[in-house]
Amino acid sequence: MTNKKNITWHTSMITKKQRRDQNGHQSFILWFTGLSGSGKSTLANAVAKALFNRKIRNYILDGDNIRFGLSKNLGFSEEDRKENIRRIGEVAKLFVDSGQVVLTAFISPFQEDRHQVRQLVEQNEFVEVYVKCPLAECEKRDPKRLYQKARKGEIKEFTGIDSPYEEPIKPELVIETNRYSVEECVVQVMTYLEKEQLI
Ligand code: ADX
Repeated sequence: MTNKKNITWHTSMITKKQRRDQNGHQSFILWFTGLSGSGKSTLANAVAKALFNRKIRNYILDGDNIRFGLSKNLGFSEEDRKENIRRIGEVAKLFVDSGQVVLTAFISPFQEDRHQVRQLVEQNEFVEVYVKCPLAECEKRDPKRLYQKARKGEIKEFTGIDSPYEEPIKPELVIETNRYSVEECVVQVMTYLEKEQLI
């Protein structure tokens, strides 16, 4: 547990609202969750490009990349995944405070961990996007050949195989990547954000 005895919170002289006003848009977390191979990174990248084209400042935190740095000391046990998501949640919150849109692409398999992140920020600052794709389809895609390895027992605790994925209970959005093209999925996300006046 953190010892908060000798640390002091410094309040920034520039508020979140001022940063948002300067950017000319809202700031929030677009949290993509789903199985490995479901299309989280692909969709997050395509949405990021669409936001960028509209001059909306944004940044992507992506599972594989973050595990090269910020989370390089973490593996795939339940405890490590929990810590991974906690770190990402805290970083995402900083991005929201900086007035930007932050897109996160992590399996984030546990309902409770995602809920904790939701609780970190204000109500309209967390948009949970369930990137839904049947396991059989993800396994067929198997872009990194990881399902193949997991089936052979060469990777342990692989999500969907021998580690659980808890589907979101009430996500803001469900995007079915096996039914729609990437472009159509982007439109679904952007339409939602417009409807909610987030962009
Ligand atoms: S999470 O569960 O902690 O959210 P995260 O999204 O960071 O996972 O990382 C998932 C990525 O790590 C997968 O896309 C895959 O490329 C790779 N990976 C390696 N081992 C595993 C595993 N045991 N389970 C799931 N993904 C794994």
